[in-house]
Amino acid sequence: MNYIGSKYSLLDFLETTIETVTGYQVGDNYVFADLFAGTGIVGQTYKAKGCTVISNDIQYYSYVLNKHYIENIPELDTSLLETLNNLPPAQGFIYKNYCEGSGCGRNYFTNENGMKCDAIRIELEKLHTSGQIDDSLYFYYLASLVNSIDKYANTASVYGAFLKHIKKSAQKEFQLELLPVIPGKVGKVYNEDINALAKKISGDVLYLDPPYNARQYCSNYHVLETIARYDNPVLNGVTGLRDSSDQKSRFCSKRTVAEAFDELIQNAKFKYIFLSYNNEGLMSLDTIKEIMSRYGEYSFFTQEYRRFKADKEENRNIAADSTTEYLHCLIKQ
Ligand SMILES: C[S@@+](CC[C@H](N)C(=O)[O-])C[C@H]1O[C@@H](n2cnc3c(N)ncnc32)[C@H](O)[C@@H]1O
Repeated sequence: MNYIGSKYSLLDFLETTIETVTGYQVGDNYVFADLFAGTGIVGQTYKAKGCTVISNDIQYYSYVLNKHYIENIPELDTSLLETLNNLPPAQGFIYKNYCEGSGCGRNYFTNENGMKCDAIRIELEKLHTSGQIDDSLYFYYLASLVNSIDKYANTASVYGAFLKHIKKSAQKEFQLELLPVIPGKVGKVYNEDINALAKKISGDVLYLDPPYNARQYCSNYHVLETIARYDNPVLNGVTGLRDSSDQKSRFCSKRTVAEAFDELIQNAKFKYIFLSYNNEGLMSLDTIKEIMSRYGEYSFFTQEYRRFKADKEENRNIAADSTTEYLHCLIKQ
Protein backbone atom coordinates (compact mmCIF):
# COMPACT_ATOMS: atom_id res chain seq x y z
CA MET A 1 0.00 0.00 0.00
CA ASN A 2 1.14 3.52 -0.83
CA TYR A 3 0.89 4.86 2.74
CA ILE A 4 2.11 8.14 4.25
CA GLY A 5 5.20 7.35 6.28
CA SER A 6 5.44 3.72 5.15
CA LYS A 7 8.81 2.27 6.08
CA TYR A 8 8.84 -0.19 3.18
CA SER A 9 11.83 1.44 1.51
CA LEU A 10 13.66 2.03 4.78
CA LEU A 11 13.55 -1.57 6.00
CA ASP A 12 17.24 -2.26 5.34
CA PHE A 13 18.24 0.81 7.33
CA LEU A 14 15.94 -0.14 10.22
CA GLU A 15 17.02 -3.78 10.32
CA THR A 16 20.73 -3.00 10.16
CA THR A 17 20.52 -0.35 12.88
CA ILE A 18 18.34 -2.42 15.18
CA GLU A 19 20.71 -5.38 14.82
CA THR A 20 23.75 -3.16 15.52
CA VAL A 21 22.24 -1.69 18.68
CA THR A 22 20.60 -4.81 20.14
CA GLY A 23 22.87 -7.56 18.84
CA TYR A 24 19.73 -9.62 18.10
CA GLN A 25 19.99 -11.89 15.03
CA VAL A 26 17.45 -13.62 12.77
CA GLY A 27 16.00 -16.59 14.65
CA ASP A 28 16.53 -15.10 18.13
CA ASN A 29 13.47 -15.39 20.30
CA TYR A 30 12.40 -11.93 21.46
CA VAL A 31 9.31 -9.73 21.66
CA PHE A 32 9.19 -6.96 19.05
CA ALA A 33 6.48 -4.29 19.30
CA ASP A 34 5.38 -2.18 16.32
CA LEU A 35 2.92 0.18 17.98
CA PHE A 36 2.29 2.75 15.24
CA ALA A 37 1.93 -0.12 12.78
CA GLY A 38 0.19 1.46 9.73
CA THR A 39 0.57 -1.02 6.85
CA GLY A 40 2.30 -3.44 9.22
CA ILE A 41 5.40 -3.85 7.07
CA VAL A 42 7.81 -3.53 10.00
CA GLY A 43 5.95 -6.01 12.21
CA GLN A 44 5.68 -8.47 9.32
CA THR A 45 9.43 -8.28 8.77
CA TYR A 46 10.13 -9.10 12.42
CA LYS A 47 7.53 -11.87 12.50
CA ALA A 48 9.31 -13.45 9.52
CA LYS A 49 12.62 -13.21 11.44
CA GLY A 50 11.17 -15.33 14.25
CA CYS A 51 10.07 -12.68 16.79
CA THR A 52 6.82 -12.64 18.71
CA VAL A 53 5.27 -9.42 17.41
CA ILE A 54 2.91 -7.07 19.21
CA SER A 55 1.22 -4.68 16.79
CA ASN A 56 -1.03 -1.67 17.33
CA ASP A 57 -2.58 1.28 15.53
CA ILE A 58 -5.35 3.73 16.37
CA GLN A 59 -6.92 3.27 12.91
CA TYR A 60 -9.24 0.29 12.46
CA TYR A 61 -8.20 -0.44 8.83
CA SER A 62 -4.63 -0.83 10.09
CA TYR A 63 -5.85 -3.12 12.89
CA VAL A 64 -7.59 -5.25 10.23
CA LEU A 65 -4.44 -5.48 8.10
CA ASN A 66 -2.34 -6.42 11.10
CA LYS A 67 -4.86 -8.89 12.55
CA HIS A 68 -4.15 -10.79 9.37
CA TYR A 69 -0.40 -10.22 8.97
CA ILE A 70 0.55 -10.72 12.61
CA GLU A 71 -2.04 -13.15 14.02
CA ASN A 72 -2.61 -15.42 10.99
CA ILE A 73 -0.19 -18.16 9.98
CA PRO A 74 -0.29 -20.58 7.01
CA GLU A 75 -2.28 -22.49 5.81
CA LEU A 76 -5.48 -20.50 5.27
CA ASP A 77 -8.43 -21.55 3.14
CA THR A 78 -8.39 -19.53 -0.11
CA SER A 79 -11.48 -21.15 -1.63
CA LEU A 80 -13.78 -18.17 -0.95
CA LEU A 81 -11.86 -15.89 -3.30
CA GLU A 82 -13.60 -16.95 -6.48
CA THR A 83 -17.07 -16.71 -4.91
CA LEU A 84 -16.33 -13.22 -3.58
CA ASN A 85 -15.00 -12.00 -6.91
CA ASN A 86 -18.14 -13.21 -8.68
CA LEU A 87 -20.88 -11.89 -6.40
CA PRO A 88 -23.69 -9.85 -7.99
CA PRO A 89 -23.05 -6.11 -7.48
CA ALA A 90 -24.72 -4.45 -4.46
CA GLN A 91 -25.73 -0.83 -3.99
CA GLY A 92 -24.46 -0.56 -0.43
CA PHE A 93 -22.80 2.17 1.65
CA ILE A 94 -19.75 2.54 -0.59
CA TYR A 95 -21.77 2.95 -3.79
CA LYS A 96 -24.29 5.24 -2.15
CA ASN A 97 -21.70 7.57 -0.61
CA TYR A 98 -18.49 7.38 -2.62
CA CYS A 99 -19.58 6.75 -6.25
CA GLU A 100 -20.96 9.38 -8.61
CA GLY A 101 -23.71 7.19 -10.10
CA SER A 102 -25.62 7.25 -6.81
CA GLY A 103 -25.93 11.03 -7.00
CA CYS A 104 -23.83 11.59 -3.86
CA GLY A 105 -21.47 13.89 -5.79
CA ARG A 106 -18.35 11.95 -4.73
CA ASN A 107 -16.10 10.15 -7.16
CA TYR A 108 -13.80 7.92 -5.10
CA PHE A 109 -14.52 4.73 -7.10
CA THR A 110 -16.25 3.83 -10.37
CA ASN A 111 -19.85 2.74 -9.84
CA GLU A 112 -19.00 -0.86 -10.77
CA ASN A 113 -16.04 -1.06 -8.38
CA GLY A 114 -18.01 0.57 -5.55
CA MET A 115 -20.82 -1.95 -5.96
CA LYS A 116 -18.39 -4.86 -6.11
CA CYS A 117 -16.68 -3.64 -2.95
CA ASP A 118 -20.09 -3.43 -1.23
CA ALA A 119 -21.04 -6.94 -2.36
CA ILE A 120 -17.83 -8.43 -0.92
CA ARG A 121 -18.01 -6.40 2.30
CA ILE A 122 -21.66 -7.37 2.93
CA GLU A 123 -20.98 -11.05 2.22
CA LEU A 124 -17.96 -11.15 4.55
CA GLU A 125 -20.02 -9.70 7.40
CA LYS A 126 -22.80 -12.20 6.75
CA LEU A 127 -20.42 -15.18 6.68
CA HIS A 128 -18.71 -14.03 9.87
CA THR A 129 -21.86 -13.22 11.85
CA SER A 130 -23.44 -16.54 10.91
CA GLY A 131 -20.30 -18.42 11.99
CA GLN A 132 -19.51 -19.75 8.51
CA ILE A 133 -16.04 -18.17 8.71
CA ASP A 134 -13.99 -17.67 11.88
CA ASP A 135 -12.05 -14.54 12.93
CA SER A 136 -8.94 -15.73 11.20
CA LEU A 137 -10.60 -16.04 7.76
CA TYR A 138 -12.70 -12.92 8.33
CA PHE A 139 -9.59 -10.79 8.85
CA TYR A 140 -7.74 -12.57 6.02
CA TYR A 141 -10.40 -11.59 3.48
CA LEU A 142 -11.22 -8.21 5.00
CA ALA A 143 -7.54 -7.19 5.08
CA SER A 144 -7.26 -8.34 1.47
CA LEU A 145 -10.30 -6.21 0.58
CA VAL A 146 -8.85 -3.08 2.25
CA ASN A 147 -5.52 -3.60 0.53
CA SER A 148 -6.99 -4.42 -2.91
CA ILE A 149 -9.63 -1.68 -3.13
CA ASP A 150 -7.01 0.98 -2.36
CA LYS A 151 -5.40 0.27 -5.75
CA TYR A 152 -8.64 1.34 -7.50
CA ALA A 153 -9.20 4.59 -5.60
CA ASN A 154 -9.72 7.67 -7.75
CA THR A 155 -7.44 9.89 -5.67
CA ALA A 156 -4.06 11.56 -6.14
CA SER A 157 -2.65 9.43 -3.31
CA VAL A 158 -4.70 9.79 -0.11
CA TYR A 159 -8.44 10.14 0.55
CA GLY A 160 -8.34 13.82 1.54
CA ALA A 161 -9.92 14.49 -1.89
CA PHE A 162 -11.11 12.59 -4.95
CA LEU A 163 -10.29 13.41 -8.57
CA LYS A 164 -12.84 14.96 -10.91
CA HIS A 165 -12.25 12.50 -13.74
CA ILE A 166 -11.69 8.80 -13.18
CA LYS A 167 -7.95 8.13 -13.53
CA LYS A 168 -6.60 5.14 -15.44
CA SER A 169 -5.82 2.82 -12.53
CA ALA A 170 -9.29 3.48 -11.03
CA GLN A 171 -11.04 2.60 -14.31
CA LYS A 172 -9.86 -1.03 -14.19
CA GLU A 173 -12.28 -3.68 -12.99
CA PHE A 174 -11.69 -4.29 -9.29
CA GLN A 175 -10.34 -7.73 -8.46
CA LEU A 176 -9.97 -8.93 -4.89
CA GLU A 177 -6.46 -10.30 -4.41
CA LEU A 178 -5.36 -12.21 -1.35
CA LEU A 179 -2.56 -10.93 0.83
CA PRO A 180 0.41 -13.13 1.65
CA VAL A 181 0.26 -15.12 4.89
CA ILE A 182 3.43 -14.62 6.94
CA PRO A 183 4.88 -17.75 8.56
CA GLY A 184 6.13 -17.26 12.11
CA LYS A 185 4.88 -17.05 15.69
CA VAL A 186 1.29 -15.92 16.25
CA GLY A 187 1.50 -12.35 17.58
CA LYS A 188 -0.99 -10.00 19.21
CA VAL A 189 -2.71 -6.99 17.66
CA TYR A 190 -4.35 -4.01 19.37
CA ASN A 191 -6.44 -1.04 18.20
CA GLU A 192 -5.73 1.53 20.91
CA ASP A 193 -4.14 4.86 21.56
CA ILE A 194 -0.46 4.00 22.06
CA ASN A 195 -0.15 5.89 25.33
CA ALA A 196 -2.93 3.81 26.89
CA LEU A 197 -1.56 0.54 25.52
CA ALA A 198 2.05 1.21 26.60
CA LYS A 199 1.03 0.94 30.26
CA LYS A 200 -0.28 -2.60 29.76
CA ILE A 201 2.38 -4.42 27.71
CA SER A 202 6.10 -5.21 27.85
CA GLY A 203 8.78 -6.75 25.66
CA ASP A 204 12.34 -6.47 24.33
CA VAL A 205 12.31 -4.10 21.34
CA LEU A 206 9.85 -1.25 20.89
CA TYR A 207 9.71 0.33 17.45
CA LEU A 208 7.96 3.70 17.24
CA ASP A 209 6.94 5.31 13.96
CA PRO A 210 4.54 8.15 14.85
CA PRO A 211 3.13 10.68 12.39
CA TYR A 212 5.79 13.31 11.70
CA ASN A 213 3.48 16.24 11.00
CA ALA A 214 0.01 17.65 11.55
CA ARG A 215 -1.72 15.50 8.92
CA GLN A 216 -4.06 13.16 10.78
CA TYR A 217 -4.31 9.63 9.39
CA CYS A 218 -8.03 9.48 10.22
CA SER A 219 -8.70 12.24 7.66
CA ASN A 220 -6.34 10.97 5.00
CA TYR A 221 -7.62 7.38 5.05
CA HIS A 222 -11.27 7.88 6.12
CA VAL A 223 -12.66 5.86 3.19
CA LEU A 224 -10.57 2.80 4.11
CA GLU A 225 -11.67 3.23 7.73
CA THR A 226 -15.31 3.10 6.65
CA ILE A 227 -14.80 0.09 4.38
CA ALA A 228 -13.07 -1.72 7.25
CA ARG A 229 -15.70 -0.80 9.86
CA TYR A 230 -18.73 -0.73 7.54
CA ASP A 231 -20.62 0.99 10.30
CA ASN A 232 -22.84 3.37 8.28
CA PRO A 233 -21.32 6.59 9.63
CA VAL A 234 -22.77 10.05 9.08
CA LEU A 235 -20.55 11.69 6.44
CA ASN A 236 -19.80 15.39 6.23
CA GLY A 237 -18.77 17.82 3.54
CA VAL A 238 -17.67 17.49 -0.05
CA THR A 239 -15.14 14.73 0.69
CA GLY A 240 -17.48 12.76 2.97
CA LEU A 241 -15.44 12.74 6.17
CA ARG A 242 -16.65 10.57 9.04
CA ASP A 243 -16.43 11.80 12.62
CA SER A 244 -13.04 10.77 13.95
CA SER A 245 -12.71 12.99 17.00
CA ASP A 246 -11.70 9.93 19.09
CA GLN A 247 -8.84 9.12 16.67
CA LYS A 248 -7.10 12.49 16.63
CA SER A 249 -3.47 11.85 17.48
CA ARG A 250 -1.52 13.85 20.06
CA PHE A 251 1.52 13.14 17.87
CA CYS A 252 0.03 15.38 15.13
CA SER A 253 0.09 18.61 17.11
CA LYS A 254 3.11 20.73 18.04
CA ARG A 255 1.36 21.65 21.28
CA THR A 256 0.91 18.07 22.52
CA VAL A 257 3.55 15.92 20.81
CA ALA A 258 6.50 16.33 23.20
CA GLU A 259 4.38 15.62 26.27
CA ALA A 260 2.80 12.55 24.64
CA PHE A 261 6.22 11.28 23.58
CA ASP A 262 7.79 11.77 27.01
CA GLU A 263 4.86 9.98 28.66
CA LEU A 264 5.22 7.11 26.19
CA ILE A 265 8.96 6.62 26.72
CA GLN A 266 8.55 6.86 30.47
CA ASN A 267 5.83 4.18 30.56
CA ALA A 268 7.37 1.83 27.98
CA LYS A 269 8.51 -1.46 29.56
CA PHE A 270 11.04 -2.38 26.86
CA LYS A 271 14.83 -2.60 27.02
CA TYR A 272 15.43 -1.18 23.52
CA ILE A 273 13.39 1.66 22.04
CA PHE A 274 13.73 2.94 18.46
CA LEU A 275 12.03 6.03 17.08
CA SER A 276 11.75 6.83 13.37
CA TYR A 277 11.46 10.56 12.69
CA ASN A 278 12.72 12.97 10.05
CA ASN A 279 14.40 16.36 10.12
CA GLU A 280 11.14 18.17 9.26
CA GLY A 281 8.94 16.65 11.97
CA LEU A 282 6.97 18.48 14.67
CA MET A 283 9.55 17.57 17.33
CA SER A 284 13.06 18.95 16.86
CA LEU A 285 16.15 16.77 17.04
CA ASP A 286 17.09 18.45 20.31
CA THR A 287 13.70 17.77 21.89
CA ILE A 288 13.89 14.08 20.97
CA LYS A 289 17.46 13.78 22.25
CA GLU A 290 16.57 15.51 25.49
CA ILE A 291 13.50 13.37 26.15
CA MET A 292 15.10 10.03 25.29
CA SER A 293 18.30 10.79 27.20
CA ARG A 294 16.24 11.16 30.41
CA TYR A 295 15.56 7.42 30.36
CA GLY A 296 18.90 5.80 29.44
CA GLU A 297 21.65 5.57 26.84
CA TYR A 298 20.78 7.50 23.68
CA SER A 299 22.21 7.44 20.14
CA PHE A 300 20.98 8.05 16.58
CA PHE A 301 21.58 6.91 13.00
CA THR A 302 20.56 8.69 9.77
CA GLN A 303 19.73 8.02 6.14
CA GLU A 304 18.70 10.28 3.23
CA TYR A 305 15.15 9.54 2.05
CA ARG A 306 13.07 10.41 -1.01
CA ARG A 307 10.02 12.50 -0.10
CA PHE A 308 6.47 11.00 -0.09
CA LYS A 309 4.76 11.88 -3.38
CA ALA A 310 1.72 13.59 -1.81
CA ASP A 311 3.91 16.01 0.15
CA LYS A 312 5.14 17.51 -3.11
CA GLU A 313 1.67 17.53 -4.65
CA GLU A 314 0.09 19.29 -1.70
CA ASN A 315 2.86 21.74 -1.01
CA ARG A 316 4.56 22.94 -4.15
CA ASN A 317 6.82 25.26 -2.15
CA ILE A 318 8.79 22.31 -0.86
CA ALA A 319 12.16 22.58 -2.57
CA ALA A 320 14.12 19.51 -1.49
CA ASP A 321 13.28 16.11 -2.95
CA SER A 322 14.74 14.30 0.00
CA THR A 323 14.67 14.49 3.77
CA THR A 324 16.93 13.01 6.43
CA GLU A 325 15.43 10.02 8.21
CA TYR A 326 16.57 9.46 11.77
CA LEU A 327 16.44 6.31 13.79
CA HIS A 328 16.76 7.41 17.42
CA CYS A 329 17.84 4.64 19.77
CA LEU A 330 17.47 4.25 23.51
CA ILE A 331 18.75 1.51 25.78
CA LYS A 332 16.43 2.01 28.71
CA GLN A 333 17.77 1.97 32.26
C1 LIG B 1 4.07 6.91 10.07
S1 LIG B 1 2.64 5.92 10.17
C2 LIG B 1 3.30 4.31 10.45
C3 LIG B 1 3.77 3.66 9.18
C4 LIG B 1 4.19 2.23 9.36
N1 LIG B 1 5.41 2.11 10.12
C5 LIG B 1 4.35 1.59 7.99
O1 LIG B 1 5.51 1.32 7.58
O2 LIG B 1 3.35 1.39 7.33
C6 LIG B 1 1.96 6.35 11.73
C7 LIG B 1 0.80 5.49 12.19
O3 LIG B 1 0.53 5.84 13.55
C8 LIG B 1 -0.87 5.75 13.79
N2 LIG B 1 -1.14 6.57 14.98
C9 LIG B 1 -1.12 7.92 15.09
N3 LIG B 1 -1.33 8.30 16.36
C10 LIG B 1 -1.49 7.17 17.09
C11 LIG B 1 -1.73 6.93 18.47
N4 LIG B 1 -1.86 7.93 19.35
N5 LIG B 1 -1.83 5.64 18.89
C12 LIG B 1 -1.72 4.63 17.99
N6 LIG B 1 -1.49 4.81 16.67
C13 LIG B 1 -1.37 6.06 16.21
C14 LIG B 1 -1.49 6.24 12.49
O4 LIG B 1 -2.80 5.77 12.33
C15 LIG B 1 -0.50 5.69 11.43
O5 LIG B 1 -0.94 4.47 10.90
